Amino acid sequence: MNIGFAMCGSFCTFQTAFHAMQTIATKHTVIPIFSQNAYALDTRFGTASEHITRAEQICGVTPLHTIPQVEPIGPQALLDALIIAPCTGNTLAKLAHGIADGPVTMAAKSHLRNGKPVLIALSTNDALSGAAENIGRLLNRRHYYFVPFRQDDPQNKPSSMIADYTLLLPALEAALHGSQMQPILL
Ligand SMILES: Cc1cc2nc3c(=O)[nH]c(=O)nc-3n(C[C@H](O)[C@H](O)[C@H](O)COP(=O)(O)O)c2cc1C
Repeated sequence: MNIGFAMCGSFCTFQTAFHAMQTIATKHTVIPIFSQNAYALDTRFGTASEHITRAEQICGVTPLHTIPQVEPIGPQALLDALIIAPCTGNTLAKLAHGIADGPVTMAAKSHLRNGKPVLIALSTNDALSGAAENIGRLLNRRHYYFVPFRQDDPQNKPSSMIADYTLLLPALEAALHGSQMQPILL
């Protein structure tokens, strides 16, 4: 199958996400997509060019990173599923409100017109505060699925939640069959 793998600016999750990308790439053709921030920002977790190169090495193609590059995803039915991993609180909020102002949100909008699954691996410190209502909105939206998630550090970051990347592949298989992997809350 053709799977879009969109990465947003949760930079601390990139190593884990790349491992998951690698696993998916052993079974499927993977098309990487980077948010504007993922494509441009150097952080203490690595430089943008290192991340771009890593995605190229895994997928064999350079990441799509502009709105015009991702726009054909819908009209040309390029993807069977779109994974957003990691999905930031920022991108989650935009998706929940129908905003498509960057490569990842536009990829989702374009892909959703075909009624195919979008699988979200969230990673955000405000999952149980500011982002909670957006998670709730997407849970109620057709064609959206979640990689099961949990609080990652309840004592020190009580509002933070992160997807369990070891479940990304089975969650993808479930989403491709129209089901949400359970339990969603670990
Ligand atoms: C080092 C670093 C780590 C970050 N980690 C996260 C994170 O884990 N989750 C999150 O929602 N935002 C995180 N952010 C903030 C996002 O990068 C920021 O909200 C950005 O606007 C996200 O844009 P995007 O969703 O288009 O990629 C981090 C920022 C930096 C610089």
